[in-house]
Amino acid sequence: MNCYDAPVLGIETSCDETSCAVLNGTTVLSNVVSSQAALHEKWGGVVPEAAARAHVESILPVVDEAIKIANVGTPGAIAVTNRPGLVGALSVGVTAAKALSMAWQIRLIGVHHLEGHVMSTSLEGSSPPYPHLCVIVSGGHTELILVSKSCKYRQVGGTIDDAAGEAFDKGARLLGLGYPGGQAVQEMARSGDPNRYDLPRALKSKPYDFSFSGLKTAVLRLVEREGKAINVSDLAASLQEAIVDVLVEKSTRAAEDTSATAITLVGGVAANERLREQMKSAAERIGVGFFAPPLQFCTDNAAMIALAGSVRLALGERDGFELEVSANERFAEPIDADALRDTSV
Ligand code: KG4
Ligand code: ZN
Repeated sequence: MNCYDAPVLGIETSCDETSCAVLNGTTVLSNVVSSQAALHEKWGGVVPEAAARAHVESILPVVDEAIKIANVGTPGAIAVTNRPGLVGALSVGVTAAKALSMAWQIRLIGVHHLEGHVMSTSLEGSSPPYPHLCVIVSGGHTELILVSKSCKYRQVGGTIDDAAGEAFDKGARLLGLGYPGGQAVQEMARSGDPNRYDLPRALKSKPYDFSFSGLKTAVLRLVEREGKAINVSDLAASLQEAIVDVLVEKSTRAAEDTSATAITLVGGVAANERLREQMKSAAERIGVGFFAPPLQFCTDNAAMIALAGSVRLALGERDGFELEVSANERFAEPIDADALRDTSV
């Protein structure tokens, strides 16, 4: 992996984590994450205005701590998430990054949040070969991305409604497990029977696309119908299995149809043990490599943003102080999925 030839400071504030990291190549010198999960828990989701305020409070202490831990003096450049995400939240990180870039007279680069996730498998580890299929599963995104070479992306598929993380979070809420719910569902599922409740595996007709909203409705109906008789562990295990099954089946199909040489699994939901295990076995079964970042680099963090920025800076890219934030920006152009499927039969 071709990185910038000086330490890069990364800043991430797109949602509910304030994070700052310093990287030297792919080596993480520091990665400080301040989570707002406790703040948003009472509302059962992220409140944008509250998130922006909390970023304002945390950003300078988090940056200060990351710089102290890294102990390499002034970094050579700054990478910051500027898209997509909550506009108020993104603005805090981007404004801080511009101010530091001006004060230190160092380069600035804006990073797409999903490019950070895609590159997270190379943090502190070996890089996946090309072409590979990257499975991005987070609270806001579920996408299958074909990475043909460094920084070359095409979208093979994605969700038509909820993201995989939302399916975990909404399911957890219905089961009274708090927010964010992915980790709580995983813990509850440990002692549960995944075959106890028959939950839908949607969109069989579309090989690379996902739909998770029917799953949420099915869980809601079960909870309404069975009330206190519901076995929470069994339902958590059944919900987890339904999400994992669909992700693994469609990702392996897409990897085969695109002749990918590896599958990478990234984003907050990639922290899920069952998903990691099942995706790894499926990759072995079809004879391709499998890569997933260490757990601390699955959920939102600035180390992955610093790495994506570092790779872009090494290509000669940089941004000026006119760098803007954007709530929505497509990460990769779609590939012709029908053509893919036709050649595979
Ligand atoms: O990547 P991320 O930190 O934020 C976004 O960019 O969205 O992902 C957060 C999501 C949440 O939906 C959370 O419930 C889920 O990742 N998550 C998990 C686990 N840990 C976090 N889902 C399933 N199992 C886990 N162990
Ligand atoms: Zn994310």
